[in-house]
Amino acid sequence: MALRSATLNVMTKAARTAAVRLKRDYGEVDQLQVSRKGPADYVTAADERTEKILRSELERARPDFGFLMEEAGEVKGKDPTKRWIIDPIDGTTNFVHGIAHFAMSIALEVGGEIVAGLIFDPINELMFTAEKGQGAYLNERRLRVSKRERLDVSLFATGIPFLGRGSADDHKRVMAEVGAVMAVSSGIRRFGSAALDLAFVAAGRYEGFWETGLMPWDMAAGILLVREAGGTVTEVSGGDQMMKSGSILATNTAMHGPLGDIVRKAKV
Ligand code: IPD
Repeated sequence: MALRSATLNVMTKAARTAAVRLKRDYGEVDQLQVSRKGPADYVTAADERTEKILRSELERARPDFGFLMEEAGEVKGKDPTKRWIIDPIDGTTNFVHGIAHFAMSIALEVGGEIVAGLIFDPINELMFTAEKGQGAYLNERRLRVSKRERLDVSLFATGIPFLGRGSADDHKRVMAEVGAVMAVSSGIRRFGSAALDLAFVAAGRYEGFWETGLMPWDMAAGILLVREAGGTVTEVSGGDQMMKSGSILATNTAMHGPLGDIVRKAKV
């Protein structure tokens, strides 16, 4: 791996520090105090604790930067051009159900642009990192998106809304999209962590991922990872306001057009 930058060192150190406690919490998931944030969206004691640890580690290293966090929201820094975008546990529902597929996501935004990203699955020891212009990595290994060029051999991932998430029309639309994509591809996965879905596109495991209704912290680090691995990221519509609209279509180079067309044309 190329020499790790000071920024990535700060990010990996924060993630590893937070992971110690998070892993213990995951081991004791049955005893966790779980409060309900919404019908199927849990916020756990571990979620809040992880976010606090990440924040204090990052703040110590970069005292002037601001934050945008899933749990605590926005905290302005002295330097208004730089902020960390944090999801302490992406895949909270998996965590709560004892399913080892969740990750921390940390991105650094400078002047409105994501310049560094980290997605860390602490249970499976998958540390995905990327810096603008420096490539994407899984642990020490450089990542490239998949080279598959045909829909019939392509595997895709998506997110499916649930009770309390999206309108009835959204639910119907997503089912139509899934129906259209499953009919022409090798399959669809819904593993429950948008951050890891994006990291898996960067790693060439999926040919593409699409979802709507996401939050900036679900995708900030993942967008950079996919791009630095040679992939293409837009909104499902083809626009570039993913962080504002919550809509994302992230693919290897060949599948962006075909997957986008199928999803957009899916009939309810
Ligand atoms: C969720 C996951 C999931 C996606 C949801 C997100 P959270 O994030 O990324 O895959 O489908 O839309 O809200 O709540 O676990 O941080």
